[in-house]
Amino acid sequence: MSKELLAYVNGQYLPQSQASLPIMDRGLLFGDSVYEVIPAYGGIPFRVEHHLRRLDRSLNAIRVRNPLSTEAWHAVFDRLSAQLQGQDQSIYLQVTRGDSPVRNHVIPAGIEPNVVAFTAPLPPRDTARVLQGIRVITLDDIRWHRCDIKATTLLANVMARAKATDEGADEAILVRDGMAMEGTASNLFVVSNGLLITPPDSDELLPGITRDLVLELAADDGIPYAQATIDAAELAHAEEIWLTSSTREVAAVVALNGQQVGDGTPGPLWRRMDALYQACKERLRLGGECRDDG
Ligand code: PDD
Repeated sequence: MSKELLAYVNGQYLPQSQASLPIMDRGLLFGDSVYEVIPAYGGIPFRVEHHLRRLDRSLNAIRVRNPLSTEAWHAVFDRLSAQLQGQDQSIYLQVTRGDSPVRNHVIPAGIEPNVVAFTAPLPPRDTARVLQGIRVITLDDIRWHRCDIKATTLLANVMARAKATDEGADEAILVRDGMAMEGTASNLFVVSNGLLITPPDSDELLPGITRDLVLELAADDGIPYAQATIDAAELAHAEEIWLTSSTREVAAVVALNGQQVGDGTPGPLWRRMDALYQACKERLRLGGECRDDG
């Protein structure tokens, strides 16, 4: 039997099944916490500085100090990822506001954040499956107005994903005031008249690390792109639709609300972007840089 993976909890490494936080943890009681999911290819964390910058941004927004230095975070990632010896994996970290002496919405003075982190293997890329694309539905975006904070308060996302699953779809695109914003756990791109479009940064969507990389790769490769709002009604006419995330990478949407997107297979621009993305990962795996990682 393989040995159980260790998780990090407030400075200690414990078997995952024994790692826990107190019931008065405010992340548990109020969803008062933020998180990151960092892919590590060949055990090497991908775009890690970007993830740590976004963590700082989320922590600043909720007024929690970052409990670890950059070096300390790297040490945690190294120790966790070493357990899976060069495998692809996803590293999860969560910082909660800490333990409340009593359950009360008021933020107590002087409490220390709790930190947990663990890793899990990422299944190797299954090209045949990737080329099948994914199916999505559109749903009303019932989330709050600070979706730019990577908070663990994800009940609306979980409910939307459950609805998608019920309808035989892989993901839901969330629509607010007639505009398509993002997926339940992914960012949105469409190709319209050859132009690659993603909704602009705002309080209503997460500034995705994969989304930024896709925009950088588009710029490097001369693909025309824009950040612009996407009318949900226009989705039905898009040449291509993609959803991006650290774990899904760049996924091609082949069906929207039961109707085929384009010719019902991943489109030509997706093929080009997927190749750029995979090449980027390979360079990292071989010890080089994807692009700049700063
Ligand atoms: N989710 N939008 C939402 C709401 C997300 O939860 C995520 C990622 C993204 C994509 O962000 P990134 O490219 O930085 O992964 C966009 C992670 C993977 C998760 O919750 O598991």
